[in-house]
Amino acid sequence: MQIYDVIIVGAGIAGLNAALNLPEEKKVLILCKENSWDCNTFYAQGGISVAVDENDVNLHIQDTINAGAGLCDKEAVKVLCGEGRSAVDSLIQKGFEFDKDDKGNLLYTKEAAHSKNRIVHAGGDATGRQVHLFLMQKNPHPLMYKTTVIDILQKNDLVYGVRIFHQGKFENIYAKNTIIASGGIGSLYEYHTNAKTVSADMQGLAIECGCELRDMEMTQFHPTVFVNTDKARKQLLSESLRGEGAFVINDKGERFLFDYDKRGELSPRDIVSRSIFDYKQKHKKDTIYLSFENFQREFFKNRFPTIYYNLKGLGFNLPEDRVPISPAFHYAMGGIKCDLDAKVDKYKNLYVIGEVANTRVHGANRLASNSLLEGLVFSRRAVRKILQKNYDFIHIEFDEKSEILFKPNDKILKSELRTLMWNNVGIVRTKKNLKLALDKVDSMISSDIGKLLKLRLLTSKAIIESAIKREKSLGAHYIKN
Ligand code: SIN
Repeated sequence: MQIYDVIIVGAGIAGLNAALNLPEEKKVLILCKENSWDCNTFYAQGGISVAVDENDVNLHIQDTINAGAGLCDKEAVKVLCGEGRSAVDSLIQKGFEFDKDDKGNLLYTKEAAHSKNRIVHAGGDATGRQVHLFLMQKNPHPLMYKTTVIDILQKNDLVYGVRIFHQGKFENIYAKNTIIASGGIGSLYEYHTNAKTVSADMQGLAIECGCELRDMEMTQFHPTVFVNTDKARKQLLSESLRGEGAFVINDKGERFLFDYDKRGELSPRDIVSRSIFDYKQKHKKDTIYLSFENFQREFFKNRFPTIYYNLKGLGFNLPEDRVPISPAFHYAMGGIKCDLDAKVDKYKNLYVIGEVANTRVHGANRLASNSLLEGLVFSRRAVRKILQKNYDFIHIEFDEKSEILFKPNDKILKSELRTLMWNNVGIVRTKKNLKLALDKVDSMISSDIGKLLKLRLLTSKAIIESAIKREKSLGAHYIKN
């Protein structure tokens, strides 16, 4: 029987960069729920924020902490911003090409709440897709596709691998170290920008194992999303559009964000999302738009080709047309608690990296484009720790038991859950609605459901309970009495 040195659950930027940093001679297996591109990294548009030089590190730290509304762990932020440059440079040294000007200098764009231009991008607005392709091309280790992790094999303070469902069969996959890099929670919400595979299963399994989850109430809503499509993943309109001159208007073409914050379109995204929400309610407006009238067509097409062609496919002629927008769920700041080497407290050999993890690097509101950076920086730290660390590992076998993953009613309940989370645990919350949501989730948990829905529900419950506990608004968590 095969015992891997490392199993990595997830093939986004964090998982693949961990794989890239693990020596070829190590036995490594990457588990991927569907296809490799079914991850949030693939859809990331804006770019990777990084201190432009040593002098910018402190400012990047400060911007991250300011956006995080007081909940960031300063040491975690120092790691992120301090090690960011070398993590990005390491990609460049391996051959990755970010966009450059005519003289070969890296181009840096701006996004909300950054006090300067410090976001590198690739393919204009295709940064995530290009980084993902690059990491896949360089990855030296095998991937196993269409594989759902349904259990963490654990005893006392050690994890022995995971149980999977693959090609209609259950199987135990054993490893000396397990890295979870499975992403966030998008599928819990009716409107979201996430890949369809991002459904909070691993957070649910961590809860079942008794791991601590933290800051789960901190759910980030991206302010500019085109939601009028029947696809589960809604169309993101990158914040870099606003960084480079797009603005938010009402049906009469009037800008209103300056009424809420002097930074207008460049306020942190929690503020922009809430302002749009509030303006629509107060002024009884059905529709708010993003306007691109500041852009020249050729520039727009070259700088934002993904958005240009995606929106063209949906019937918009950019930059002339304005596009109806809504906030939508985008990113989970909360996650499985870990230390600065990405290790989970409860186990000697379990690591979490990327959106599934919580180091408190984002606090109560993530600064734009810090997420790809987090994936790069903390994957390297996890790998470093794994390679340094020695502990006694005596392999043990677990039962090959099967489970009922789906029940007939699950589909309806999943859809009810998405509506419930959007309406009751969304941009503006009240204690009453949170309690209603908790009751409803509890009753779904005790009904006749499959295991995968149960995991979603356990994560939803953790979000709602954290939201109820935090009685005062902070960052992305806004509660009205
Ligand atoms: C965007 O391009 O607006 C998304 C960037 C991010 O989520 O940080």
